[in-house]
This record gives sequence, C-alpha cells and structure tokens, in this order.
Amino acid sequence: MDTSSFKILAVETSCDETAASVIEAVRPPTSDLRKTAEVRSRMAEVRILSNVVSSQIDIHRKFGGVFPEHASRAHAEKIIPVVEKALGNVKPDAVAVTIGPGLIGSLLVGVNFAKTYAFANNLPMLRINHLLGHIYSCFANPSSPPLLKGRQGGVIPQFPALILIVSGGHTGLVLMKSHTDIKTLGETLDDAAGEAFDKVAKLLGLGYPGGPAIAAEAAKCHPELVEGSPAHAGSRTSREILHCVQDDKLKLPRPMLNSGDFNFSFSGLKTAVLYKVKELTKTYNLKPETFSAALAAEFQQAVIDILIGKTIQAAYDFRPKSICLCGGVSANKELREQLKKAVSGLPWHPLYHIPHPSLTTDNAAMIGVAAGYHLDKITTYDKISANANLKL
Ligand code: KG4
Ligand code: ZN
Repeated sequence: MDTSSFKILAVETSCDETAASVIEAVRPPTSDLRKTAEVRSRMAEVRILSNVVSSQIDIHRKFGGVFPEHASRAHAEKIIPVVEKALGNVKPDAVAVTIGPGLIGSLLVGVNFAKTYAFANNLPMLRINHLLGHIYSCFANPSSPPLLKGRQGGVIPQFPALILIVSGGHTGLVLMKSHTDIKTLGETLDDAAGEAFDKVAKLLGLGYPGGPAIAAEAAKCHPELVEGSPAHAGSRTSREILHCVQDDKLKLPRPMLNSGDFNFSFSGLKTAVLYKVKELTKTYNLKPETFSAALAAEFQQAVIDILIGKTIQAAYDFRPKSICLCGGVSANKELREQLKKAVSGLPWHPLYHIPHPSLTTDNAAMIGVAAGYHLDKITTYDKISANANLKL
C-alpha cells in the first residue's frame, strides 16, 4: 500500500463528545523507508485537516454528570452530521475509531458507525485506544500548518517520554520508550482527577463540568486577576476570601503523595472536602460563599501538588527526555503552569509538551494523529470491536 499521503477519518464517541476529524499522514516515498515499524512511525508527519466536536454538556448538566443512556442517544443523533462536517469533500483512505476505554453504549455508536462507513466504502480501519489518543494530543498542534512537523508547529516525540494522563475517566503516569513501547507506571486506585473535580464542584454547588467551574472559582482567590469581581474591588467579601486562603483551617490532605509508588487516590480528597464544608459551616459558622473560592483553590492545589509530586518522582527515576501532560484536566491553567515550572527545575532539562487547548478535552483529531503514527496497525472492519475496559 502506498502511504506517502494518506487521509484518515477519525471518529471518537467514548464519553460525552461526538467527534470526527480528518488527518493527513504524509511519508517519504516507500523506497526511502527502513524496515522496522518503529522507524517508519517516527518518519510520519501528521496534519490535522479538520476537527469537529459536538459537546453534550447541556444534556448532562441537569444530572450533574454524564448520564450514559442520554450520551448514547445523543451520539446516535449527532454522529452523521459531525462526520459530514469533518469530511467536507475529502474521500478518506482509512477510518480510525476509538474502541475503548469508555462508556460501552457511547463507544458502540462510534465503532458501529465507523465499521459501517469502512464497509460501505471498502476502506481499511485502525482501532485506537482513547488514552493513546490523549498521549498523541501532546505532539499535535492545530494552530499552524503543516500541523505536526517538527519545527513547523507540531512536535516530534523525544523518547523516553514521561506522560501524565489526567482525564475524567483516567489518571495515570505512563512511560513511553518508543511509539510501540508504552508502559503504565501507576494509575488511580479509585476516582480519576477529573472525576474528583466534577464531584467536588457538585458538592460546592459550582455546576458541571466541575473542572472549569472549580478553576474559575479558585481564580477568585487571586482578586487582582479577576477584574470586576467583588474581590478585585476590595470589598468586605474580598477580605474574607483572602483571609480564608491563608487560613490553616482550610488545609486539605495530599493523599498518597509519599506512597513511594506512582499510583494515585482522589476519593479520600473528595470526602475531605465534604467534611471540611461541614466543619466550616457548623463549627465555625461560616457561610459557604465566604469560603467556596478559597476551598476550591485549596482543593485544586491539593490535586496539583499530588500530580506534580508523583510526576517529578517518576522523572528522577526514569530520566525522560520529554515530559507531557494530557487529558481533560490538562486544560487547567494552574496545572499547566506549575508543572512547567517544576519540569524547568529538573537538572537535565527535559522538553515539556502540553496539548493545544482545543485538544485537551475529548476530540477526534488526537485519535487521528495517533492513527497516523500507527499506520502499520492497519486492519479490516471485521477485526474491530468496542472494549469499555481497554488498557493501554
Ligand atoms: O479527557 P476528557 O475530556 O474526558 C475523559 O476522557 O474522561 O476529560 C474530562 C474531564 C472532566 O472531568 C472535566 O471536569 C475535566 O476534564 N476538566 C478540567 C478542566 N477542564 C476540563 N479539570 C480541571 N480544570 C479544567 N480547566
Ligand atoms: Zn478523554
């Protein structure tokens, strides 16, 4: 098969975003390629030609979380228009699809659509792990064409790469020695970091999705940054909030920070916030509006301290050439900036890669980019099936 220029339709429906993208994988002529799949993968350039995401946030907001039945139904309604928009006039050469992990009802819509499209158009397929997609989002950059070529926008991965994946469904540290040698060093034993953001936002009454809501609430603790806010104007509320920020009675634990392994646990932190709210309202007689910003900031910082602490421990153990942050929680500005600072303090100066903001939460471009790097795994529609519990 000639893969010198190869267009892939990518489909992603693992949770609550219906997404489709077209990417173009460009390679030197076949005669220039050396034999191993690894070398061929490294020689790929991948350009994102389109990236369409239909979010279901408005559907799930009233439930305070993803309602699986509604998610599958919305995917079924949106998949055709989303794919049509992503394709435009392009006739793809292959179809890549997220086969897991995720919600089975959601996955099945994307997988069955992709298989049907591939069958009807006689196209080969690529099955992509959602987490692999998040990893490759670190190496893509949709802002300047060509989109994934070394110096001109995207990033050629430097191995070994240490990857921190933080999403709503997963939290883990991964060591990537090559495109095909990917090992999980540790993962969450209970809730994912994004799940903790969502649950804590719910109990602080901040709405859904919780990550952006907590980040916005926490930002009020830096009144100079929030123009027009009461805190910015130096009102009484501001002094109360600022007082709270420095107050030891807000301190939350950092579970498993010093556990000596690379696993995480966020469920206890969520419970600690619940007890803290009870204590502040009942024992100290404080109104939630006086401490919610400060508590959101302390919770966010606790999560960041744990994520960065473990990542830096792993960095010293494995001495990676690059450190990458990905997954929905990588949209968090504080996390992006604090990890950047921690990485820049490492004595061997690894590279630091984070996804473009448009590629942090679920999207199909990251699935297409991962597929573009793994063209050697091309297969046929009858070998594709959804797996809700798929591992990396
Ligand atoms: O990767 P993603 O879109 O879906 C999964 O694969 O799970 O991640 C969604 C998660 C949600 O839990 C959401 O609250 C979180 O990412 N998130 C954030 C931010 N934006 C989204 N968490 C913290 N800060 C943010 N700015
Ligand atoms: Zn995701």
